[in-house]
Amino acid sequence: MGRRLSDAGERIADERAALLGWGESIRRDLPWRETRDPWAVLVSEVMLQQTQVARVVPRWKRFLDRWPTPTSCAEATLAEVLDEWAGLGYPRRARNLWLTAQAARDEHDGALPWDLAALMRLPGIGAYTARAVLAFAFERDAAVVDTNIARVLARRAGRRLTPRDAQAEADAFLTAGSAWAHNQSLMDLGAMLCRPVPECDPCPLRGACAWRVAGRPDPDPAIGSAGVSRRQSRFAGSDRQGRGRLLEALRTSSIAPDRLASVMGWPDDVDRASRVAATLVTDGLVAEDAGVYRLAT
Ligand code: ADE
Repeated sequence: MGRRLSDAGERIADERAALLGWGESIRRDLPWRETRDPWAVLVSEVMLQQTQVARVVPRWKRFLDRWPTPTSCAEATLAEVLDEWAGLGYPRRARNLWLTAQAARDEHDGALPWDLAALMRLPGIGAYTARAVLAFAFERDAAVVDTNIARVLARRAGRRLTPRDAQAEADAFLTAGSAWAHNQSLMDLGAMLCRPVPECDPCPLRGACAWRVAGRPDPDPAIGSAGVSRRQSRFAGSDRQGRGRLLEALRTSSIAPDRLASVMGWPDDVDRASRVAATLVTDGLVAEDAGVYRLAT
C-alpha cells in the first residue's frame, strides 16, 4: 500500500539523499574503503582510533601484508605485534587486536563474528568499533558514532547529546540498506566541512541542521557532547611519553631496577617511574619480576 510519507519522513529522506549524493561526489580515496574484509576493516578502525589518516595508510598496508588474517596474527608473539605497532601510539590497542585475533582463531573458526553482541565481547572492541565492522565490512545496518560523526549529530540536533542520545540520533538518521555509504559520508562530512570551525555553505545538511538554522548560537552544541573529542593533551613530559620510552627500551633488553627511572626520562623521579611502569604491567604489556622489567609474552 503506497502510504504517503509524513512531512518529517519526507524531510529526513531528502536529507539522507543529500548526504549520500554529497558523499559520493567527494569520497576520499582511502585504501580500507576498497575492502570488505572484516579483519582488514578492524585493523583500520583500531589504527584510526587515535592516529591520523595519513599516518595510518602505510602502516595499515604493512600490517596486513604481514598478517593478512586473524589466525596469522594470533600466531605472532606479542613482541612482534608491538614491534609492528611502534610509532602508532597507544600500544594497548595492539595487544587487544592480538587478543582479538586469538579469540577469532579459537572461538570463531578464524573469522570475525558478524553480530553486535559477539563483536563487543572481543578484547578492545566497543560500541563504535563493533558497529564499524558491521557497517564497513558486512554492510549491515549499523550506525557508527566516532568523534567526527558525534560533532555532526550534535549540531544537526541543535543540542548537546548524551552517549545514549548520540547513538539514538545516529540510528534514526541511518539510511537503511546503505549503511556503508551513509557512515562513510558522515565521516567525510565531519572531517571536511563540519570541523571544529565549520564551513556550512557547501554542507548537504545545512537546511536541516538545527544549529545552523538557528544562526549558530553560542555555545556550539558539539562542545562537550558525547563522543566529541577534546584536544589531545601534550605528549612531551606526559606519562604516555615515559611509557613509550620504556616499551621502546624493552624491545632490545630487559631493564634492571636501577635503570628504570633514567630509561623513562625521569632520572630524578623514581616514584613516578615505578608508578607509570606499573600501568604497563596492569595493561599486560610488560612483566615485572623482582624489579626487573621485560616485555610481556
Ligand atoms: N576514521 C575511522 N574510520 C574511518 C574511515 N572508515 N574512513 C575515514 N576515517 C575514518
